[in-house]
Amino acid sequence: MVKMLWMINRRKGEPERRKIITRINAYHGVTVATSSMTAKPYNAEFGLPLPGFLHADCPHFWRFGLDGESEEAFTERMARNLRDLIEREGPETIAGMFAEPVQGAGGVIPPSKGYFDAIRPILREYGIPLIADEVICGFGRLGEMWGSDHYDMEPDAIIASKCITAGYYPMGAVILGEKLANDLTEASEAAEEFPTALPQQAARSAARLP
Ligand SMILES: Cc1ncc(COP(=O)(O)O)c(C=O)c1O
Repeated sequence: MVKMLWMINRRKGEPERRKIITRINAYHGVTVATSSMTAKPYNAEFGLPLPGFLHADCPHFWRFGLDGESEEAFTERMARNLRDLIEREGPETIAGMFAEPVQGAGGVIPPSKGYFDAIRPILREYGIPLIADEVICGFGRLGEMWGSDHYDMEPDAIIASKCITAGYYPMGAVILGEKLANDLTEASEAAEEFPTALPQQAARSAARLP
């Protein structure tokens, strides 16, 4: 997903739009890139995160709420801090924000009340896609097909794995919303990376075969 965003932005003439936002206590994996997105202190052992991987606040009201702060005020502060982060870094340099609906390995942390409703308009305002990491929450774990349905996240893309095969076989998926799918199709036509199975493309590829 990160590589798709980078490729799309480069092909759209926005090569500087590369930074990735995740949240403190996020868990997204163990590769160099996904460890950089996994915002747990132990990744400092590896000299991570890599530059350009930014960690926003963890919306855990019980843990990070201030004395006397209501949950609503906490959510507003989370959103304000996210806006500050985006503006400090430069909105035109941010490729996307990744979020688990409920943060899983970081401590099973549901977001504070209204969290996704508060951050969604900020991301939209700056043209930053929201990507739901549904590796743990998808396929009914929160009572609906997607955890993002449960929280009305309205993500621009979904990452899924684990439950696709009930864990019997390792398989993951990146599911793009219409806008990103169109952007990727356009970018991949030129780059011939992440080829989409459009009939014209398939024909062109076949024509090149000996
Ligand atoms: C929310 C979330 N995202 C990503 C991953 C990483 O999955 P994988 O190790 O298959 O890359 C995990 C693993 O537990 C996860 O919980």
